[in-house]
Formats: sequence, C-alpha cells, structure tokens
Amino acid sequence: MTDRRFLFLLSSARSGGNTESMARAAAAGLPAHVPQDWCDLTKAALPAFEDLRHGASYGPLSAPMADLAERTMQASDIVFVAPLYWYGLPAPAKLYLDHWSHWMRLPDLGFKSRMAGKRAWLIMAHAGSSEVEIAPAREGLRLAAAYLGIGWGGALLADANAPGDWQKDPKGQSAAAQFFTA
Ligand SMILES: Cc1cc2nc3c(=O)[nH]c(=O)nc-3n(C[C@H](O)[C@H](O)[C@H](O)COP(=O)(O)O)c2cc1C
Repeated sequence: MTDRRFLFLLSSARSGGNTESMARAAAAGLPAHVPQDWCDLTKAALPAFEDLRHGASYGPLSAPMADLAERTMQASDIVFVAPLYWYGLPAPAKLYLDHWSHWMRLPDLGFKSRMAGKRAWLIMAHAGSSEVEIAPAREGLRLAAAYLGIGWGGALLADANAPGDWQKDPKGQSAAAQFFTA
C-alpha cells in the first residue's frame, strides 16, 4: 500500500448511518501510513451540473469545485460511500459523477490522464435488496469508472435498514475490516 491515498465520498442523507459505519470500519483496516480524505458530498453544496459539451465551452471551476477536483485527482483510491436509493446511487454521488463530465473537458486540469489507473470502490447498505436489484447501481459505477480508465476495487454490501442495524452483524464487521486489504 505504498503511495496510496483513499478518498471517501459520503453520500447518505443521514450521518452516522449504516453505510458510513461500514466505511469507518473498512477504513480502520487500512495501514496507518495510508492517508484518508473524507468528503461529505451532501454538505459540499455541489452546483447543478450543466451540459455544455456541444455549445458554449466550460469556464473555470469555482474554488470549492477546484478543491474537490484536486482532492479527487490526488487520491489513488476513490470510495463511494453510498446507500442504495431507488436502485441507484444517492443524488449527491450521482451529481458528483456528472461533474466529472465537466472536469474532463478542462484541458489545463488534466483530469482524464490523472484519473487513469486509480481504483474505485463501493460501500453500500440496502434494505433487503437482491443481487438483481443492487447490480444496476454497482455496475453503473463500475462502468463510469472504467470509462476513465479507473479499475474496480470491489463492493462491500450489507443488508441493513435502521441506523445501527449493520453493527449487529459480526460477519459484516470482519468483511469490512478486510475489505481494502484482502
Ligand atoms: C430515498 C431512499 C430510497 C431507498 N431506496 C432503496 C432501494 O431502492 N433498495 C433498498 O434495498 N433500500 C432502499 N432504501 C433503504 C436504504 O438503502 C437503507 O435504509 C440503508 O441502510 C440506508 O443507509 P444509511 O444508513 O447509510 O443512510 C432507500 C432509502 C431511502 C431513504
């Protein structure tokens, strides 16, 4: 795990829920020398995404968005901490991904070339969904990452609904502890 840096992107609409607990447990399994950057996308106040691909060109990023893009590019590993919402990613995680479409069109940023070779991970709580119901969210993220040359680390899933449910499952806790290092 030399030269690794993990960016955790929180996107649940409640703090301290199952997904965040899973992510904190998984992060605790990382070696101490691996830097962790935690970003709560629900508090990042991301602006609406505008599709300017085929008309006016994209202007420079605002300071908070430039900071988020830089934190993204500095990470070797990007962890989406995202509960299953309507068989998809929560809106803040999806909006963050949409902004990649902007960032990759800013020639001075070098976003595309700096993203290639990173690894994406998904940590997701759901409430009793089957593999078929979870697959669209997981595979959509995997494919979006692959589009930018980002490899897939894996998905840590848990069937847990009310906050604290996840902590009741000892198997889930040992899976979380080994998630990044197994
Ligand atoms: C808006 C919303 C949509 C949801 N949609 C689904 C769903 O499609 N499938 C599912 O299994 N659970 C769904 N859930 C349940 C959550 O995934 C579950 O409660 C999870 O534990 C929430 O994660 P958190 O504790 O990290 O916030 C939904 C919850 C909310 C609030």
